[in-house]
Amino acid sequence: MSNKKFHLSEEGTDTSIELPVLSSTLGQDVIDIARVPETGCFTFDPGFGATASCESAITFIDGDKGVLLHRGYPIEQLAANSDFLETCYLLINGELPSDSEKEAFEQTIKSHNNVESAVEQFMSGFSQGSHPMAMLCAVVAAMSATYNDTTDVSNADDRMLTVNRLIAKMPILAAMCHRHFSGLPYVSTNNDLSYAENFLNMMFGTPGAKSTVSPVLTKAMDLIFLLHADHEQNASTSTVRLSGSSGANPYACIASGIAALWGPAHGGANQAVLEMLEEIGDEKHIDEFILRAKDKEDGFRLMGFGHRVYKNFDPRAKVMKESCDEVLAELGLEHDPLLKIAKRLEQIALEDEYFVEKKLYPNVDFYSGIIMKAIGISPEMFTVIFATGRTVGWISHWNEMLSNPYRIGRPRQRYTGYAQRDYPA
Ligand code: CMC
Repeated sequence: MSNKKFHLSEEGTDTSIELPVLSSTLGQDVIDIARVPETGCFTFDPGFGATASCESAITFIDGDKGVLLHRGYPIEQLAANSDFLETCYLLINGELPSDSEKEAFEQTIKSHNNVESAVEQFMSGFSQGSHPMAMLCAVVAAMSATYNDTTDVSNADDRMLTVNRLIAKMPILAAMCHRHFSGLPYVSTNNDLSYAENFLNMMFGTPGAKSTVSPVLTKAMDLIFLLHADHEQNASTSTVRLSGSSGANPYACIASGIAALWGPAHGGANQAVLEMLEEIGDEKHIDEFILRAKDKEDGFRLMGFGHRVYKNFDPRAKVMKESCDEVLAELGLEHDPLLKIAKRLEQIALEDEYFVEKKLYPNVDFYSGIIMKAIGISPEMFTVIFATGRTVGWISHWNEMLSNPYRIGRPRQRYTGYAQRDYPA
């Protein structure tokens, strides 16, 4: 609790309510508005731009300074020194693992590195070419049937089992979505490979053959997972928390997060970036698209630009851009026409008064789409890969919520419909 207090008073009356301020370790303190209904009013904040929905010790973002910390560690340092699985451990447990803890965690994840045979049957119900996000959302929700007996959400061991299962199984399900989408046979998991290499091998390998995934692409894939691992109370994480606050099955909660992520304003932006670059088609059309993005009458937005919180730069985008250059060089794709459009677009938007004034910088989705396209991943899979990395963030927030006292999430509204009226006689 901070010593600061606010008073909410109604003009012309003696009504005044004291609102205590709760201090945060970093960033804005928060005004505790629990007493506001005593005024006869609710607070109104569509889009939650001014509302802290919960208390959390997992991730901190300073959007003005372009800072992203997981459990206190800057994302740049994790990207340079850690790997995805170690970052998973950090997000869930709060501390980096020792060497033996890391080894044990990797072994635990490997022990869950499989899916029930029923999953294949379930997948076969989708026609080839079904959107991979639709399949992922459904197949993760279906896991709530498979694991219904070991998901007592009030039991810490059951929760940890769920965490480990999800981290292990998401890349398998993601790769199955890709193979089914493309009409290819599934490639089995291989516990001799690292998490990222195993994923790429399941995506692009040949059943029964040795992995030929290059170390540069393995590193880039691991980085993509790591950079997407968590991002505090974004739309999908808030959705998972809200679903979980009713005590719902965790796999169903993660499916709700996948649904929220799918939209082009959130995780679906990476697919939308590629589609936009293809629509632009040639550098000579860029100015026309920039004009459209600035036109209030035109619904078009420059995909991969802007962020609700980052108003300086997206630190994930900075790291992703470096990886992007590395991957393009490795694959000899520096002169790919689509990538040339992307680079020119980035340059123009960074200099254009409209984008500079509104602080619209390239976000993580701008570069991740380019890297994934270079690796040969189809755009329909981009958001699935985002979801695979983000699952640890979702489940860490879910676990944090359930490990502490919590209430079901139940926002109120400003009602603007009819007043009461009688059914016509
Ligand atoms: N292109 C053109 N104008 C834009 C864009 C854009 N990409 N983004 C925001 N604006 C304008 C917007 O029209 C508004 O102008 P005005 O003040 O004149 O009405 C102003 O900038 C503020 O926009 P907003 O919609 O109030 O901002 P928001 O915080 O509600 O939305 C956003 C954030 C990310 C949804 C939005 O910037 C956007 O739609 N970007 C494109 C989609 C995208 O790349 N999303 C991925 C986000 S990063 C990955 C993730 O975390 O999911």
